[in-house]
Amino acid sequence: MDLESILFTQGFGSRRQCRALIAAGRVSVDGAVCIEPDTVFAVDGLMFEVDGAAWHYREHAYLMLHKPPGYECSRDPQHHASVFSLLPAPLATRGVQCVGRLDEDTTGLLLLSDDGKFIHAYTSPKRKVPKTYIATTRHPIDDAQLTALSDGVLLHGESKPIAAAAVLARGERLLELTINEGKYHQVKRMIAAAGNRCEALHRERIGSLALPATLAQGEWRWLDAADLLALGER
Ligand code: URA
Repeated sequence: MDLESILFTQGFGSRRQCRALIAAGRVSVDGAVCIEPDTVFAVDGLMFEVDGAAWHYREHAYLMLHKPPGYECSRDPQHHASVFSLLPAPLATRGVQCVGRLDEDTTGLLLLSDDGKFIHAYTSPKRKVPKTYIATTRHPIDDAQLTALSDGVLLHGESKPIAAAAVLARGERLLELTINEGKYHQVKRMIAAAGNRCEALHRERIGSLALPATLAQGEWRWLDAADLLALGER
């Protein structure tokens, strides 16, 4: 692939902007500055640098973000900052989107990608991908609430009760809840329907992929092969 197309596909702007970056000597490949946009490189395993920052060529972008509170999962946020402000600009430019949304005040594991099939697979209700949340509740959790959550609660606007795939009291006011759907405010609404109130919510896991303890709030990283395997990808 020619260098201009490499930069273009990886999110470094319009073709004209990519050509300008290259012509200005701001791009190097394998340690050598390349000022010729038409130079062809094999993209498999290709590393390049733009303004000294290293990039790995990726046909698609798959990443995880430890979402902090106070950020909206939208490119066009209404009241808070956007989670996209936590990512390098080329990721937004190449069309990375949130794989499902977390509320502004919810923290934890958020996946992002520019692969439409991947986004669809992990947001489609048909696939029933389990998502595990830790909720801090206002009132102590009792057995009746746990039973209601595991048997199913009727949410406003739904025709059938929705049951948690798994539910566990981790502490007096700490609830671990796994759901297979991704309905609007689902966990908060389920906890309210069970007779309690969600005061804080954190997503800990999607499928078998857990938020790594080493990823601080606001940090992101690429998904590696083991992460994709944990999600059931090959
Ligand atoms: N359920 C909620 O209520 N909020 C979230 O952010 C995610 C799941």
